[in-house]
Amino acid sequence: MADELDLIRQRIDIVELIGQRMSLKKAGKYWKGLCPFHDDKDPSLTINQQLGRYKCWACGASGDIFNWVMETQRVDFKDALNILADQAGVQLKKANPKERSEREIYQQQMAAAQAFFRAQVEQSETARTYCDNRGLTKEVRDAWGLGYSPNVGEALAHELAKKKMSLSMAEKIFLVKNDTRGGYFDIFRGRLMVPIHDDRGKLVAYGGRIIGDGQPKYINSSDTPLFKKSRILYGMNRAKEAIREADQAVLVEGYMDVIACHMAGVKNAVANLGTAFTDEHAGLLKRWCSHVVILYDRDRAGQDAAMKTAATLIKANLKPLIAMPPEGDDPDSLLQRDGARAVMALVERAVSPMEQRLQLLRERLNPNKDEFWEEAAEALAIAATPMELERGVSALAGDLPGVSDRMAAMDMLRRMAVKAKRGQKAEERKASRAEEAPRRPKAAPVLTGLEKTVLKALVNPLTASSALAGVCGREPFHSPAAKALGESLAEVFPDGLPDEPVNVWIGRLPADAADMLMSIDESVGGQVTEEDLEAALTRLEANKQRAIRRQMLTGEADDETLKKISDQLRETKGW
Ligand code: UTP
Ligand code: MN
Repeated sequence: MADELDLIRQRIDIVELIGQRMSLKKAGKYWKGLCPFHDDKDPSLTINQQLGRYKCWACGASGDIFNWVMETQRVDFKDALNILADQAGVQLKKANPKERSEREIYQQQMAAAQAFFRAQVEQSETARTYCDNRGLTKEVRDAWGLGYSPNVGEALAHELAKKKMSLSMAEKIFLVKNDTRGGYFDIFRGRLMVPIHDDRGKLVAYGGRIIGDGQPKYINSSDTPLFKKSRILYGMNRAKEAIREADQAVLVEGYMDVIACHMAGVKNAVANLGTAFTDEHAGLLKRWCSHVVILYDRDRAGQDAAMKTAATLIKANLKPLIAMPPEGDDPDSLLQRDGARAVMALVERAVSPMEQRLQLLRERLNPNKDEFWEEAAEALAIAATPMELERGVSALAGDLPGVSDRMAAMDMLRRMAVKAKRGQKAEERKASRAEEAPRRPKAAPVLTGLEKTVLKALVNPLTASSALAGVCGREPFHSPAAKALGESLAEVFPDGLPDEPVNVWIGRLPADAADMLMSIDESVGGQVTEEDLEAALTRLEANKQRAIRRQMLTGEADDETLKKISDQLRETKGW
């Protein structure tokens, strides 16, 4: 695989690759273009042809040819590899045969389970009646692959065993469970089985709904080798084309809502399943659209979740709208009672998060209460644009008690909104400090000029091998970032640099290290000669010795360091 990657890197020119999708201009040694990963006004995407990497100085997106294909064509690494291998005319060997065959076995077991559940649903009077009563007709069952797990301890386990399938493997994909006596029993018993597919249509998991009332209502597959719930949206395989066409997805709460929406003609509906909506979910949607209508329950829990989801979407640069079903309804119940048109109208009436908060506020509180205005200010503060803020301000101005002049009222509301926004921003900063930081350009690592000189020499084929020898043999660096890079280099290239173009060997380094080399290459002008390199290494060495002496004099050095120092001195001075 490593050889194949190298070969692909050798054959594909990153400027040509990126140039297939957008226009690039040469700027000095580099190429520049409008960054496709954020709303770019001035070209901030820089492409370093020699290093085979791109980087956006505004949003921090960076990577090599593989990252480019993954990000722009919305595919995973395996697909990107196939696409680029194709372009490069490289024949790929089969990926890790063991892993591959395990996956194939899991998939065969899933398929066997699916065939079993499907057959059962048509044979079971209970299951069929339940479905028919809910409007899940034969046609719908066929389209969504709905099945039934019989209410017997080990019906599926027997079925798989009959097919000579390994039950210990079936356990890993959440179909059966080990009992204390060494046998296996079915996890899903007496449930309507909802197969879950990934966005490419591979069957990866199940949700099982109890027939009628009872607890738990749903049993959902845990994460398995085939399934990671934070990455899967239910219905994505069936909805993605409609989502792309409408440039909009409709996000609902559950299995039955997705199915109901599609039945009602809202074919761009998907759901995150029994888990919070994650950044990964947002990333998945972002591959297909830029707008998302959130359609959760009207109750407090539903609306709180909607606000959280909206925030996650906004963070991913997606534009959320919120639609609210009538009290006590979800798309499924609405469809059953009022028909398809009602579901469609609900989606069409979606409003911005600000408007939705104001609407809910009016239902809950009266404008003669102080509390109303505190919450109104919070709502205005989440306006996505100045224009939207004006709409909100204007809608509220007439109700502000004690201020009869409309202009004055609007002014006051704007000020309240600004103040609330400041508070929200402070909260966000607190939260984002605690949480993982969103994608922003990383601050450039702090390196000394001498360190940069050495690293710059590394990316020049003429000086590369002396630079690497200097880095690995003499450990000249002092700054933590440079030291870490030095360690990566020593680890990846213990026998020196391979005789390959820079863009090929740089691809074997961790992304951070490659990014750092790219930014050094750009920040240090001109070329570094062998003499410059040697001079820099000598001065770095002198600095190091000085630091060591200082440590010894001030007694800062611990025993271990002292031992290292005396060993070194013995070596260099013959002590
Ligand atoms: P709902 O309770 O709204 O269920 O939960 P539903 O989808 O409308 O199903 P019906 O109409 O009652 O049959 C919404 C989603 O939350 C998850 C499921 O994904 C469900 O579709 N959920 C709910 C669970 O994972 N476990 C539960 O016990 C309940
Ligand atoms: Mn429901």
